[in-house]
Amino acid sequence: MTTILDDQLLVHADRARGKVVVLTGGANGIGKEAAILFAKHGAKVVIGDRDVKGAQAVVERISDERGVATSIGCDVLKWEDQVNLFELAIAQYGAVDIVIPCAGISEVGQVCDGNVQLGEDGRPVKPKLPTLDINLTAVFYTVHLALYYFKRNRTKDAWKSIVLIGSMASWQAIPKGPQYSASKHAVLGLMRSLYPIVDAENIRVSVIHPWFADTGILPLPVKVILAGIPLTPVVRVAAAILCAGVDPDPATNGLPWLLPDDGPVFRLEREQIRTGVYELLEKRTERLKSFAETVTRTTATLKDLWGIFGHGALFTTVLAGGAYFVFQKALIVTIDTSSSGASGIGKEAVLLFAKHGAKVVIGDLDLKGAEAVASRVRKTGGEAVAVACNVLQWDDLVNMFELAISKYGAVDIVVPNAGINELSAVCNGKVSSREDGTLLPPKLPTVQINLEAVIQTVHLGLHYLKKDRTADQWKSVVLIGSMASWNPIPGGPQYTASKHAILGLMRSLYPTLDAQDIRVASIHPFYAETNILPAETMLVLAGIPLVPVPRIAGAIFCAAVDPDRTSSGCPWLLLDDGPVYRLPKEDLRVGVYDQLNKHVERPEG
Ligand SMILES: NC(=O)c1ccc[n+]([C@@H]2O[C@H](COP(=O)([O-])OP(=O)(O)OC[C@H]3O[C@@H](n4cnc5c(N)ncnc54)[C@H](O)[C@@H]3O)[C@@H](O)[C@H]2O)c1
Repeated sequence: MTTILDDQLLVHADRARGKVVVLTGGANGIGKEAAILFAKHGAKVVIGDRDVKGAQAVVERISDERGVATSIGCDVLKWEDQVNLFELAIAQYGAVDIVIPCAGISEVGQVCDGNVQLGEDGRPVKPKLPTLDINLTAVFYTVHLALYYFKRNRTKDAWKSIVLIGSMASWQAIPKGPQYSASKHAVLGLMRSLYPIVDAENIRVSVIHPWFADTGILPLPVKVILAGIPLTPVVRVAAAILCAGVDPDPATNGLPWLLPDDGPVFRLEREQIRTGVYELLEKRTERLKSFAETVTRTTATLKDLWGIFGHGALFTTVLAGGAYFVFQKALIVTIDTSSSGASGIGKEAVLLFAKHGAKVVIGDLDLKGAEAVASRVRKTGGEAVAVACNVLQWDDLVNMFELAISKYGAVDIVVPNAGINELSAVCNGKVSSREDGTLLPPKLPTVQINLEAVIQTVHLGLHYLKKDRTADQWKSVVLIGSMASWNPIPGGPQYTASKHAILGLMRSLYPTLDAQDIRVASIHPFYAETNILPAETMLVLAGIPLVPVPRIAGAIFCAAVDPDRTSSGCPWLLLDDGPVYRLPKEDLRVGVYDQLNKHVERPEG
């Protein structure tokens, strides 16, 4: 880590002069201090905030200090408001140079705590996810627009910059803060996935991770708990944003900036994201690179074949082999409620659970496929039932769980396995528009299915896990992450963000669920050959050993039924065609995490 003292934070502040800064959430707290600091150093600041009066007061203060600023009412959840914010910057100052999506809220609306609201009909009511919406979806909107508006009136050598606001919760989960932890893990993933793409276009991207700072975002009970603990000074967070935003050094692009207490700012250097947990991943990636020669050869052959047959016929030729996982544990599961069980990992998991005596409810969009799996289970003497379920439809989710209750009397294990790859391009500098030129909001199907629907399924699942539960019954939730929960996929911002978020969600759920004797785990496979991989990815991966799908199913199964309480809350890694690694919770305390923990555990703290 590089320590950056306060005066060093402002060494390049002059580079802000004349730059147009678009900042959401600039009416209060960190955003307000950042707006004032940028203006003090000669930037033209455009503030968008739903607190209109607060934003105007900041503009007045900047004007009083002879700075340049303007503001507009902007609810970041409203796409049109965000477009208006960027249009204001163009209309008033001619360009957009630095974008800071600072609007954010803490955990609002309780989800995944085992309590669901029941409607008049007695059915669970769909929870709102405001923290996820504001801290992640709206950030996607802002970044999507930033990369589009950066191009307006851009001169050839003009540099641009995005500074995202993470949190310590991007690295350490906040118990009882599932949305906040997930969204802040996601913001780190988003930054890391954007970096290689935007770096090539002379655009900086950074993420700032403050520890608790005394702003309006902290609810009173949190302030009381934090009494006496050194907080991060808000002005220092603002200075870190400025420094990260204007730093001329290309080597510092794409890095996280940490403010873990009331001490100085630390920049996490690129090599340091390769220590600890990451080192393990890195080593395996290196091993996989040794297959590069085969890859090049196979890719060349495949390209020829592609020309002749088209991509469909090639799937079978690119499958990399591997020993199947043999699971030897005695099984005591009674029921598994598994979404997306019709193909790939879900299907193998269903077969494995059923083989060991579990009764399985398979929810999938593809009802035919799900029924085929259920019938295969029944033919071999097992118990399974299929139901049509679009995980984006709350009623479908409720129906799936109700079916489990009516058919088998209880729900014991929940596996929200439904997931998709990066669908619909976002944050790539292009914004679709209507014929009249109105800009259209980006679709975020991958975030919706891989994250929002998972949170909804867990929220609902916990309700059903607790239903008619007897004292000695153990229950379990297994989430499906990916290697992309740790390492970014360049050009896969939604996938990377959502899978980073799954890790954050699992870590935040663990203390809450452990207290209720409910296991939780997350499974992180490297690429496996299932329908989720598009033909292009399969081609790129040709010759590289993939993770055998049955082994992933084995890991899900093992993580779900393991009687050892200490293994709850752990991530399970499947890094290649080799065995499964369970990451002990302590391993989330080495490397990068170690540095953060040292601050949290400061003796005088
Ligand atoms: N203060 C902390 O302890 C802390 C720690 C880590 C990260 N952060 C992050 O810093 C960022 C800023 O938070 P803060 O501490 O300055 O909080 P704050 O409450 O003082 O400021 C947040 C601002 O965002 C605005 N906002 C919220 N929802 C909005 C919406 N839908 N549309 C437009 N504006 C909206 C609010 O009006 C407010 O002006 C957040 O992303 C937060 O998660 C804060």
